[in-house]
Amino acid sequence: MQAKMTVNKAFTISTIDPRVYGTFLEHMGRAVYSGIYEPGHKTADAKGFRQDVKELVKELNTPLIRYPGGNFLSGYNWEDGIGKNRPKRLDLAWKTVETNEVGLHEFINWSKEVNAEVNMAINLGTRGIDAARNIVEYCNHPGGTYWSDLRRQNGAEAPFNIKTWCLGNEMDGPWQIGGKTAEEYGRLAAEAAKVMKWVDPTIELVVCGSSNDQMPTFASWEATVLEHTYEHVDYLSLHSYYGNHKNDLQNYLAMSVGMDRFIKSVTAICDYIKAKKRSNKTLNLSFDEWNIWYHSNEKDSENEPWQQAPPILEDIYNFEDALLFGCLLITLLKNSDRVKIACLAQLVNVIAPIMTEKNGAAWRQATFYPFMQAAHHGHGTVLRHNLDVPAYDCVDFNAVPFVESVAIHNEVKNEIIVFAVNRSANESTDFTAELQGFNPTSILEFTEISGHDVKQVNTKDTCPVVPKKADAASINGNQLTASLKPLSWNMIRVGVADK
Ligand code: AHR
Repeated sequence: MQAKMTVNKAFTISTIDPRVYGTFLEHMGRAVYSGIYEPGHKTADAKGFRQDVKELVKELNTPLIRYPGGNFLSGYNWEDGIGKNRPKRLDLAWKTVETNEVGLHEFINWSKEVNAEVNMAINLGTRGIDAARNIVEYCNHPGGTYWSDLRRQNGAEAPFNIKTWCLGNEMDGPWQIGGKTAEEYGRLAAEAAKVMKWVDPTIELVVCGSSNDQMPTFASWEATVLEHTYEHVDYLSLHSYYGNHKNDLQNYLAMSVGMDRFIKSVTAICDYIKAKKRSNKTLNLSFDEWNIWYHSNEKDSENEPWQQAPPILEDIYNFEDALLFGCLLITLLKNSDRVKIACLAQLVNVIAPIMTEKNGAAWRQATFYPFMQAAHHGHGTVLRHNLDVPAYDCVDFNAVPFVESVAIHNEVKNEIIVFAVNRSANESTDFTAELQGFNPTSILEFTEISGHDVKQVNTKDTCPVVPKKADAASINGNQLTASLKPLSWNMIRVGVADK
């Protein structure tokens, strides 16, 4: 099969916001307790946080971590996680017991150690404007007031200066503690947003869109919520999880087409409200929960309630998951003009790229690698491209290109980075990219994940699903040529000289 990409230096989509490589850590399952935090573990630091996990998070290179939920958020009192008195509470979202040993200060300090900013979420399920303005004052006000001085007493003299805040979580979901109609939520979010920005006008706010595009209220939810909040907020959220429930590989690998359609639809709704309000402001998107989630569904339905840190949502990812995951990443990048924040849900143990054994090792899932490669190398300007490639039809999608790809120009490093997934199960692809306006000089790196059984997983002991060096790539004039193996994730980095 042939795939011909054409890009031109002058035709660009947008600069990539590094926050598109955000992740998410919720107080649920073993994400926090026996995930990032396990006092007594042989690698634990003086505060009880696992150093081996910190090292893997740094290796992943995520610049932003959404916290502390998720569904958990909607019943959470942030004050339970500060000071000496840490009450144990029932978490009604996941039917577990939350000990609150880890709270605001512990998490913010930990995130600094892994070089990430915090994307803080506030509870708009059981709580409201008062708790919202107080937490902003606690985190971001320098001092001389009740909440900011309490922060200082609790050991943080300097404000945390948290920049990005989420106004609740999945408030359209009937499963949400304190779920709301679009009218109820829109009004509450607008008032919370207003006072949060009065406390700190430098913050940015994410308002909740639908929990996914299959919700019965999808689209009208977005429109109503934005009617109330458009001028107060900076991003609208999208959430979506994918799974190979039908065990249909070609259909599964096409699900990123659904993600693209979802992003385009939500963008259209934002622009509809912009037009309706005659606003000069363009609202951007925060895809603040995305991932594959289905392997653990059956096991989780058997869980006993009210355990502390039970192993829930522990999907073990395989090679086909890594391929779809790559397509999803590429889709987020291709929409970098509107998707400025995205959070892989989640980071450790709970539908995560990083897993831990209690008292044992931390290890990398198959999905760790496409994310890590993109988070390290996928920076710069996304180039508009034309891709001439055969396509296929499957159960849920038509005209799915056999190759999903994106090209990025990193102006600082003088590189072009191509990420590409070959969806074909049996044909390798002769991939060419005509790099108009560029002077390509050398192939800096060509790595691929390929050649595995689609159900191949990594485990704590073996790690077969990893990128390996590929060699069939070359430069001829301004043309890049590479061979993409059947069912493969590929990263090609090309050095370019000034023209
Ligand atoms: O990431 C797991 C859960 O998925 C989150 O708590 C919730 O927001 C979503 O439904």
